[in-house]
Amino acid sequence: MNNIILGIESSCDDTSAAVIKDGILMSNVIASQSVHEAYGGVVPELASRAHQQNIVPVVSEAIKRAGIEKKDLSAIAFTAGPGLIGSLLVGTSFAKGLSIALGIPLLNVNHLHGHVLSHFIKEDETTEVPEFPYMCLLISGGNSQIIIVEGYNKMRIIGQTIDDAAGEAFDKCAKVMGLPYPGGPYIDRLAAEGDPTKFRFSKPHIPRLDYSFSGLKTSFLYTLRDEIKNDPDFIEKNKADLAASLQKTIIDILLDKLDKAVKAHPEIKQIAIGGGVSANSGVRAAIADYCERHNLKAFIPKRAFTTDNAAMVAIAGYFKYLEKDFCPLDIVPFARVEV
Ligand code: KG4
Repeated sequence: MNNIILGIESSCDDTSAAVIKDGILMSNVIASQSVHEAYGGVVPELASRAHQQNIVPVVSEAIKRAGIEKKDLSAIAFTAGPGLIGSLLVGTSFAKGLSIALGIPLLNVNHLHGHVLSHFIKEDETTEVPEFPYMCLLISGGNSQIIIVEGYNKMRIIGQTIDDAAGEAFDKCAKVMGLPYPGGPYIDRLAAEGDPTKFRFSKPHIPRLDYSFSGLKTSFLYTLRDEIKNDPDFIEKNKADLAASLQKTIIDILLDKLDKAVKAHPEIKQIAIGGGVSANSGVRAAIADYCERHNLKAFIPKRAFTTDNAAMVAIAGYFKYLEKDFCPLDIVPFARVEV
């Protein structure tokens, strides 16, 4: 008998469903919500409504593309949190309803575990996966953490942001530049054309392995505000250099702490990155380069598995399914970080 897991992700503004059969990805469907573009950020109430509209077609499409029928499913994995509570409730309620209808177990997945375990999404048997223990730099819109991953369900946070996440630093600075939301991908594209040494922004001095990005955001804002006083077209004229310098500063902050973490954990030989910001070209190149120079193996996820997707929820659920680690029907989603 095959183990076939349906994964459902609805923590923010992407409705996604995926099917994993015996550990191999069969389908991964994502419906992004363009409704938020006009507002410069995700509007929670609009996100929940869009999830309600999207969830049935997205799940149906994932099942169809996997070449299976609903009755073939072994269990349903869903994102239980952290995230926007109204959005999470849509995925959670749908997963509960389907599990009752089909008489199959439910698997609650922590969204952050999903990002960390995205390296175990196999598109075929040849996909190379990390070995435990490995270090994961989790950099997303809501979190920046350094995690020692000791098992599929055994993760230890050794450093994290004390204020903004790396993705927020990208998005908030992009907003100051007048770029659309989310600004990370726009900064990435502009940075490719710019000079990363043109502008300097302040870097934090935070003890241990923790991060801070709020000072960088303020420094970026003040630089632009002062320069605009002299030249109202300053941003337009320096767009690419500003983006490249901002991206370099964020990468320097991330790499500085990663280096400290690697030195504090000589037993670690493999470094993985995950979360939306791991889609950034500069971050990917810097991690690959760092690992090569330090004789470490780098695991850089496919871009499709960096931002929110249900394939990572399905694989995290798959490992829970093998352990028979099911959750009760009265489980409630949670908004805040719980790793
Ligand atoms: O992982 P994710 O989808 O959301 C959370 O789970 O929090 O990450 C979204 C974040 C946004 O801040 C977005 O700007 C950022 O990932 N992002 C990027 C890039 N692609 C997405 N940041 C920099 N460069 C990119 N190419």
